[in-house]
Amino acid sequence: MRFWDEQLLPRVIDVLLSDRVTGRWREQACGGTSGEVLEVGFGSGTNLQHYPPAVRHLLAVEPADVAWRKAAPRIADFGRPVTRIGLDGASIDLPDDSVDAVVTAYTMCTIPDLDSALSEFARVLRPGGRLHFVEHSLSPEPAVAARQRRWQPWWEKVAGGCHLDRDLPALVVGSGFVLDDLDAFQTPGPGFAKPLGWLTIGRTAPL
Ligand SMILES: C[S@@+](CC[C@H](N)C(=O)[O-])C[C@H]1O[C@@H](n2cnc3c(N)ncnc32)[C@H](O)[C@@H]1O
Repeated sequence: MRFWDEQLLPRVIDVLLSDRVTGRWREQACGGTSGEVLEVGFGSGTNLQHYPPAVRHLLAVEPADVAWRKAAPRIADFGRPVTRIGLDGASIDLPDDSVDAVVTAYTMCTIPDLDSALSEFARVLRPGGRLHFVEHSLSPEPAVAARQRRWQPWWEKVAGGCHLDRDLPALVVGSGFVLDDLDAFQTPGPGFAKPLGWLTIGRTAPL
């Protein structure tokens, strides 16, 4: 699976989560950010075109070298500094109170130690800073949630450790963030794909 995870999956994600498919939701999640922004799970930089001009510096945490390399043209188009500062959202090499916003897109499903990552997000956020996210999550529809749990054992193997069965807004709130707003809805698509499509777009501040 190493070749799949390290070489092919980042390329597959770049296509499946392309801006054509996900752009409007990325726009919503990145809206209102400014100053120094930390994006955890930066991938191939698909969010970059959605950051407002008020974002001065983008700090990126991304473990996949292939994804980081694929981001190069988008970084060039962004026209502002983008610095890769680490490989794991659960251990962020930044001082306390050092960023104005933390952004995640389709990433909190995958971070193995999400509790530690959420503590790190709270630690590095300046007072008044917010966590902005767009993430697929556990469906509130019992039949879909049951399928998400049934699919989980094979899904995480093919999808780089992604969890379909994480209730991400609840986990974020459970680790001490207060939700400013949350939009949660089923994305359009065929019924069989519903386990992949309960989307949550939120903005939260640490307590
Ligand atoms: C489904 S992809 C989403 C990529 C990108 N955020 C996007 O929206 O296109 C999940 C990303 O999380 C990254 N990732 C996996 N484990 C991580 C970790 N521990 N810390 C930070 N990012 C991680 C993966 O390398 C991958 O780029």
